[in-house]
Amino acid sequence: MKGSLLYEGKAKRVYHTDDPEQLILSYKDDATAFNGKKKESFPGKGRLNNLITSKVFQSLHQQHIKTHFIQALNETEQLVYKTDIVPLEVVVRNKAAGSITRRLGISEQTLFQPPILELFYKNDELNDPLINDVHAYHLTGIREQDLTLIKEQALLINEHLSSIFQKAGLELIDFKLEFGFLSDGRLVLSDEISPDTCRLWDLETGTKMDKDVFREGIGSLTDTYERILQRLEESVCAK
Ligand code: TMP
Ligand code: ASP
Repeated sequence: MKGSLLYEGKAKRVYHTDDPEQLILSYKDDATAFNGKKKESFPGKGRLNNLITSKVFQSLHQQHIKTHFIQALNETEQLVYKTDIVPLEVVVRNKAAGSITRRLGISEQTLFQPPILELFYKNDELNDPLINDVHAYHLTGIREQDLTLIKEQALLINEHLSSIFQKAGLELIDFKLEFGFLSDGRLVLSDEISPDTCRLWDLETGTKMDKDVFREGIGSLTDTYERILQRLEESVCAK
């Protein structure tokens, strides 16, 4: 069933399958930050991100969000539809943290109402620069109506994700999404949604429970991700 390696990224490997429309994503134990400048391997991280992403995508399916996700295959791998990925990182911010605090001098925790949506051009050599819509049309060839759809979906997904995480006792501070086109031309949510790609703060204590524990060296990555998975399992099962 699992075919040859198609692509290896920083956190996942992508494999062909017998079906040309489907791929297997294999989550690695590696964690990187600052465009790969900080790197470490954490046994068990791949399992945690695979299981967390699978749970989150299933919850989004219940809210009728269209994604590339088909099913988890085992502890570290999932089956997805093949998409032609739009090379954009779509970031939605509910509160200030990370790059926006440095770039614009905004204090951490500042509330954004409405949420701020930012586009970054997915290009490691250029360090994923912040771009505007016209840059995106030029650099990625995306059409105006598809970019509008991406933004609408990202803000809707923000509402669903905020609620999913709130039920797990977590505040969704910000997150990054990627979108891709299926072979029939439909645009769907792709990639992963995990503590690697979201900032999640404990609702009661404000403790950081995401990749910032690794970026800032303030805690155990796997213990933190294990707690996120447990909380999601408890809150999804309790529904
Ligand atoms: P930033 O504050 O560094 O711009 O990150 C915003 C959000 O996007 C945060 O939740 C982490 C996530 N993110 C990724 O998933 N991949 C990346 O390469 C970067 C820079 C951020
Ligand atoms: N994902 C990026 C990297 O691997 C940056 C980050 O998440 O902080 O370097």
